[in-house]
Amino acid sequence: MRDLIGIEDFSKEEIDELIEVSKDIMDNKAKYSEMCKGKILATLFFEPSTRTRLSFESAMLSLGGNVLGFSNANSSSTSKGESLADTITVVSGYSDIIAMRHPMEGAPLVASSKSKVPIINAGDGGHNHPTQTLLDLLTISKEKGHLDNLVVGMCGDLKYGRTVHSLVTALTRYENIKFVFISPDELSMPDYIKEMLDQKGYEYIETNDLEDSIPDLDILYMTRIQRERFSDLSVYERLKDVYILDKSKLKNAKEDLSILHPLPRVNEISVDVDDDERRAAYFRQAENGRYMRMAIILKLLNEQSLKSEKEKSGEVISIDSLKCPNERCITSVERGIKQLVSKCEDGKLRCKYCEHEIWNENDEKTLKVYIQPEKCYNKV
Ligand code: CP
Repeated sequence: MRDLIGIEDFSKEEIDELIEVSKDIMDNKAKYSEMCKGKILATLFFEPSTRTRLSFESAMLSLGGNVLGFSNANSSSTSKGESLADTITVVSGYSDIIAMRHPMEGAPLVASSKSKVPIINAGDGGHNHPTQTLLDLLTISKEKGHLDNLVVGMCGDLKYGRTVHSLVTALTRYENIKFVFISPDELSMPDYIKEMLDQKGYEYIETNDLEDSIPDLDILYMTRIQRERFSDLSVYERLKDVYILDKSKLKNAKEDLSILHPLPRVNEISVDVDDDERRAAYFRQAENGRYMRMAIILKLLNEQSLKSEKEKSGEVISIDSLKCPNERCITSVERGIKQLVSKCEDGKLRCKYCEHEIWNENDEKTLKVYIQPEKCYNKV
């Protein structure tokens, strides 16, 4: 199924190919200018965006295609109570490919189960942002010349930062990556990411101290403390200014450190860092998004036939007595979704949509009988 829901949907070889195609597009724009003539991209943004939506639209227009969509859930029939499943069923009849951003975690997986055309996850709540990750990898490849042998610092909101979750997962495809997770205790990297690193044997350290960490880093990936993810705004107020990268903090940094940020920034990178032409890579990173998204659109449209040929009604693991406990999960708001469960290598059971741990203390027998890992990845 050629959707892009999470970065794990693409193999390392496919990621490397996307990076090479993106670079070729940058060097040979005219060659690609009519490759999507007659095709329509729908951009369904239920959450605000500047870069992702506009770079997707720019990408499709640069490929000779057309775009339609909405940039605000309030201007769609969602505001009248329409379900995500119905919206996607309808829009997939108007378009050839859909890029969607949604505040609820796992929403793109629900969309993919209803859509006749490829679905691209353009960010789902605090969960994943795989196209950002692909452009981050392109940026690292361009800035450093390689994707192996790197010390990668990630700083800020690592709990709700969907970009860092996808990027850590992607970097475990590469050799000898060491991670430094810099965050307040309240916003530390989720357990499921750290467990994945433990299982794959990747080194990471957790710290609260940005300045002390900087000298070791090849990449510093800054993130915004996201006001919209806090249910208690007093916690946001306490944490919002905890990391501010300015010129003075870079005095012991490597000469060839690359500073990345998915943007938008608020104040976590001071504007005086922008003058550090070599190390400040975040605006180049944003521009790379256009070319990587052109490569993604081309790949998914070219492989669309696979989806239409594929049986979409695979076996479903659905256990009525189980419910995902994550209030940010799409299963908490969308009607009629079957609860799918994945069994991870460590034996934990996780919601297939948002990856939160899921359990039923009173029904262990049922779980043991019905959860079969190889079947958990089938879609409704
Ligand atoms: N990096 C990113 O996703 O930016 P937008 O929210 O502006 O799309």
